[in-house]
Amino acid sequence: MTTDAVFQRCIWPTCAATYALGEARVACAECGGLLDVAYDWERLEPPGSWDFVEKKWGRRTEPLCFSGVWRFRELLPFAEPRHVVTIGEGQTLLHKSDGVADYIGVQRGRLYLQYEGLNPSGSFKDNGMTAAFTHARAIGASRAACASTGNTSASLAVYCSVTKHMQAVIFIGSGKIAFGKLSQALDYGALTVQIAGDFDDAMQRVREAAEALNIYLVNSVNPFRLEGQKTIMYRVLEALQWEVPDWIVVPGGNLGNSSAFGKAFAELKALGLIDRVPRLAVINAAGANTLFELYETIGLRWNHGQPGGHNDEVRAFYDHMNEQGHRAETIASAIEINRPVNLAKCLRALEICQGVVREVTDQEILDAKAQVGAGGLGCEPASGASVAGAKRLREEGIIGRDERVVCVLTGHQLKDPTATVAYHTTDQDEFNRVLASRGVRRATYANRAVAVPNELDDIIKAIQLYSRTS
Ligand code: F0G
Repeated sequence: MTTDAVFQRCIWPTCAATYALGEARVACAECGGLLDVAYDWERLEPPGSWDFVEKKWGRRTEPLCFSGVWRFRELLPFAEPRHVVTIGEGQTLLHKSDGVADYIGVQRGRLYLQYEGLNPSGSFKDNGMTAAFTHARAIGASRAACASTGNTSASLAVYCSVTKHMQAVIFIGSGKIAFGKLSQALDYGALTVQIAGDFDDAMQRVREAAEALNIYLVNSVNPFRLEGQKTIMYRVLEALQWEVPDWIVVPGGNLGNSSAFGKAFAELKALGLIDRVPRLAVINAAGANTLFELYETIGLRWNHGQPGGHNDEVRAFYDHMNEQGHRAETIASAIEINRPVNLAKCLRALEICQGVVREVTDQEILDAKAQVGAGGLGCEPASGASVAGAKRLREEGIIGRDERVVCVLTGHQLKDPTATVAYHTTDQDEFNRVLASRGVRRATYANRAVAVPNELDDIIKAIQLYSRTS
């Protein structure tokens, strides 16, 4: 039992084994459960109001005050300032989108998009990577590894490339990674290992290889990653002047974000920084819907951390998937995951935030993505799932028309140009190859290029015919 004020602890209250802050672990040695970074707040003097952040706004030239993660350092106080590795992550935006509000069917002015595409590597992963990197540096690691559907690897690669603190080793599935992301990993110089398998295979292998070679693992099973990802919610609150929204809607893949958000809100409530927690909606792609099946169909619950039949139910579900040879399959390749590593933590978050889970089709994902693009900052397909899920929940009457809803846009539009171009294309073969093969039938919100001869008169006619003057 550790006596430190900051330590690691098994999430299962029935086990609650603890580990020192300086250990690199991704599972409990006693029971195999996930770990939390735990704080003895009484000894850490946490902030009693949000003044502590506001005071930092005038000190933005200091890297730890500039970073959208580390300006909240007092709420993730596991690192000494001298160990913090920051590349300016977390300068992101809560964007009010009336176009998307209309699409979803909530009142104008009530729908916000938390745009994490503005991070240095173009996805929310940098929030977590800065935290994991900081821990890795503090304990002297020299190599870091991850399995990835693309964004984690891009993020790890950029931190390695900018800081030169560690070498990146990334595991990816074959043919499963969007080009924007792959190009980042290669350009940033990461050692890229392409497994003949999918993400779930790569995830299993990277754990084995990292253990065998003593490489620091930065997937979201790393509890420090999730400490950084808590700050996405702090920035939402900051942008809303510390008012709690009614709903947070987030895509679910490996379930790191949803897990981090639940922990963030539980801690803020315990510290008295918020008086209520928002509701959480986690959105699966229909072709990668393990959480939806377990939570909504089978009724699996965190149940205040009483494991009960938890492990048996999950194992039975996975065994069934194996017997069927069932593989994850969605255009939203970022969330093409069937064995989410943070499942138990996500169930806990759903309990904390009275959560719901929905699944949306690739058709709904791409239509929602096109609406996001037309109404603002644009996103990659996985992020479109949050907007598609919010629309579903509004149609079901679960989200009310006048409720304040925040959809998290997890990744930048340029991450997956293939999906975007295929949606907007006039080339039927391209549409069929990329999208129809996944059950997408229509591109209702497509913005098609107008083909014209190379003649000025024709060009002028086309512009007059198609352009809007107001
Ligand atoms: N959105 C994007 C753009 C992602 O890249 C991911 C995960 C998710 C959503 C799902 O988030 O895992 O916290 O539920 N991408 C991981 C990767 C798996 O390897 O880049 P989650």
